[in-house]
Amino acid sequence: MKKLMVGNWKMNGSLDANASLIGALQQDASTWHCDVAVCAPSVYLAQLHTLLAGGRIALGAQDLSAHEGGAYTGEVSAAMLKDFGVRYCIVGHSERRQYHQESDADVAVKAQRALAAGITPIVCVGETLAQREAGQTEEAVKRQLAAVVHTNGHCISEIVLAYEPVWAIGTGKTATPEEAQHVHHVLRAQLQAASQHADRVHILYGGSMNAANAASLLAQPDIDGGLIGGAALQASAFLSMIAAAH
Ligand code: PGA
Repeated sequence: MKKLMVGNWKMNGSLDANASLIGALQQDASTWHCDVAVCAPSVYLAQLHTLLAGGRIALGAQDLSAHEGGAYTGEVSAAMLKDFGVRYCIVGHSERRQYHQESDADVAVKAQRALAAGITPIVCVGETLAQREAGQTEEAVKRQLAAVVHTNGHCISEIVLAYEPVWAIGTGKTATPEEAQHVHHVLRAQLQAASQHADRVHILYGGSMNAANAASLLAQPDIDGGLIGGAALQASAFLSMIAAAH
């Protein structure tokens, strides 16, 4: 399967910084063997929709509302994202689960809203350090994925899944390729039990992926790409990770 490399810009960027980062990435696009997307803060989606038009980088958002529309101050709906050419939307990132109290059920409904609007949700799962140390990694990620499977049924093969161990995000600590592969394999088996099309689901690794470790992670059989935070903000680092994805 063609790999998928996704930049998660988090709450970073400006009109100027976005334009120069996209300009630098696009110069290199003819050499890519993988699919590439960037997930930007929602206020910049209009700018990026224009900048990315006709190019190879797909547009992604970082969150969406669990509601369809109406009196939900501050929220952005799936249909609104769709209006700006959004192809992917991160759902259930650990920063949303942790700082905004998103539950497994909330994440499952958000994934459903995205799918209904024709947007591919990038569903994030991952264990905390305490869960890993208690030997509960598999149980934690399986519970998170089970909620999404339960709500989305046979559509589950339309999602992208991202395994992001919480202790590896922004810390410089990465799961070893073998540790990550093990969890990806567990997640693949769970998807296979739910859908006969599970083999076409991209399962991305995220958590301190960088130019030095990308190739060994991407060489694992069930690692189908990356969800990259910090390193996706520097064109040179992101480009060398994209080059490692083939
Ligand atoms: P990081 O973030 O690459 O900066 O660790 C990844 C993520 O949170 O998606």
